[in-house]
Amino acid sequence: METWDALRARRDVRVYEQRPIADADLDRILEAGRRSPSASNRQRWDFVVSTDREHLVELSAASRSAGHVAGSAATIALLLGEPESERYRLMDQYDLGQATMAMMLAATDLGIGSGHTAVTDQDACRRILGFPEGHYCAYLLAFGYPADRPLTPIIKLNRRPFDEVVHRRHW
Ligand SMILES: Cc1cc2nc3c(=O)[nH]c(=O)nc-3n(C[C@H](O)[C@H](O)[C@H](O)COP(=O)(O)O)c2cc1C
Repeated sequence: METWDALRARRDVRVYEQRPIADADLDRILEAGRRSPSASNRQRWDFVVSTDREHLVELSAASRSAGHVAGSAATIALLLGEPESERYRLMDQYDLGQATMAMMLAATDLGIGSGHTAVTDQDACRRILGFPEGHYCAYLLAFGYPADRPLTPIIKLNRRPFDEVVHRRHW
């Protein structure tokens, strides 16, 4: 898929076909995240990938808005190390946002849907994923072949108008 088409086709997909994602495709998605830029090249992220149904169902209970994780073909937990200061927390979160988008676009390119998920229960997440102290799970990213939303460029877009968002020279 053309990059521009992938950018216009990506949307949050929360209902998935019960079709597995090939290991090579999942690795490509993870590699897209690993290659992402980060402030001072900190790369404070770790990715924990899960494809086991029982594990995914358990993980979906770690957040109030993670129902789609249970039905995903794979979910990648996006972990961050606790930062040295609040300044770094913001940077690390920015970096993770970039890695997120890179993974979502790599997935879209492969015809694979993706959906963000906030994490509301860190203790449950830590227990299920077994990550060490000094880390937290910032988000979960669920993946799977779309069952309800095709990955074609979106025509009717639910975004603020271009001219309202874009300011030229002055606000
Ligand atoms: C930081 C962040 C957190 C999000 N958390 C959730 C979530 O917990 N559950 C969920 O279903 N969607 C979540 N979303 C997805 C947004 O609701 C979605 O990106 C937005 O509504 C636009 O959707 P669209 O790109 O499909 O138009 C999150 C998105 C972002 C960027």
